[in-house]
Amino acid sequence: MSTVVNRIPPQSRDKRLIAALRGDVRERPPFWLMRQAGRYLPEYRALRGQAKNFLEFCYTPDLAVEATLQPIRRFHPDGAILFADILLVPDALGQAVDYRDGEGPVLSPVTGPAAVDRLGLDGLHDRLAPVYQTVRRLADTLPEDVALIGFAGAPWTVATYMVEGGSSRDHATIKRWALGEPESFQGLIDLLEIATIAYLKRQIVAGAEVVQLFDTWAGVLPEAGFRRWCLEPVARIIAALGRDYPGVPVIGFPRGCGVLYRDFARESGVAAVGLDGTVPLAWARDELQTISTVQGNLDPQLLVAGGAPMRDAIDAILAQLAAGPLVFNLGHGIVPDTPVDNVLRLAEQVRDWRSESVG
Ligand code: CP3
Repeated sequence: MSTVVNRIPPQSRDKRLIAALRGDVRERPPFWLMRQAGRYLPEYRALRGQAKNFLEFCYTPDLAVEATLQPIRRFHPDGAILFADILLVPDALGQAVDYRDGEGPVLSPVTGPAAVDRLGLDGLHDRLAPVYQTVRRLADTLPEDVALIGFAGAPWTVATYMVEGGSSRDHATIKRWALGEPESFQGLIDLLEIATIAYLKRQIVAGAEVVQLFDTWAGVLPEAGFRRWCLEPVARIIAALGRDYPGVPVIGFPRGCGVLYRDFARESGVAAVGLDGTVPLAWARDELQTISTVQGNLDPQLLVAGGAPMRDAIDAILAQLAAGPLVFNLGHGIVPDTPVDNVLRLAEQVRDWRSESVG
């Protein structure tokens, strides 16, 4: 007999974020911000100083719970995103992962099938157990109107860091492998797909009410590569989650995929597509919002700039997209030099919005 139960409590349905992901339109859209916890907050920098390194920070539930809650206290968004990182999965698969100040993540590169064979799923849940504990504690402590968002990196984006050994300017190494020897590269994507499904299922069991798949580097592939390495793995992950947890919406964020956003919205099974800051608003309204909820898409540098340019850009997003299902967000994560006051103004402006065409 299946032991799978849908742990989404009935009250989730009344949360503004969950309602928008089901396609509801209320008098104002929900909002949260990618990377809402991070170095732009002085209290985050203080907390970060308590951990030996960033991995230990993510794997210490006391610290990760606190980091998740910091932006909730300041800005009262409609969603709280679990504090963790997309590179915990390679770490839990057995790859050496290190974060260096000013340098970003550094990984021992996975350069071919032999290196993939040295990774494995055996230690996955043991290593990630503190993350599940963080989710459980958040589910117990969040304000009742705030939805808990779990997440993982999508296989392609996680693979870029695994193969390039960190951040990359041109993704030359992974593209040569994926595009030149697709059958060999498929093994790495298959492993990441299985790990991601297992990881997200545990987050859901622990209390995540929504999950987001971050595909930050979806935009660097040609069309056929985008379909095979981004759209199809994400679609299989969403189908697998849907079989056990049909009530849990998935947000996909295939950053930079341009007109392919439409195929992604149609074919992946997402409840919402996360739009980067370059997606035209009228196109999103006519071509995407007719298929799914949309999330986005203020350019993070407008949040740094503040003032009238930010105010007008927020108004434009709301004017074009808030009459349909929308989750207000940025087009990418908050950057470290963002003034906290600008985030407060953004939150106020979205919270004060009242759509004239609704209610
Ligand atoms: O959104 C949140 O507030 C939740 C936490 C979160 C982090 N990373 C914390 C973090 C989430 C959702 C992520 C996702 C993530 N991580 C992505 C996808 C989204 C995106 O930004 O494109 C990617 C590509 C990563 C990988 C990663 N982690 C990089 C490249 C870096 C170094 C560069 C940087 O921004 O610092 C990290 C480190 C990281 N992840 C930090 C935080 C708060 C900063 C580390 C520190 O505090 O020293």
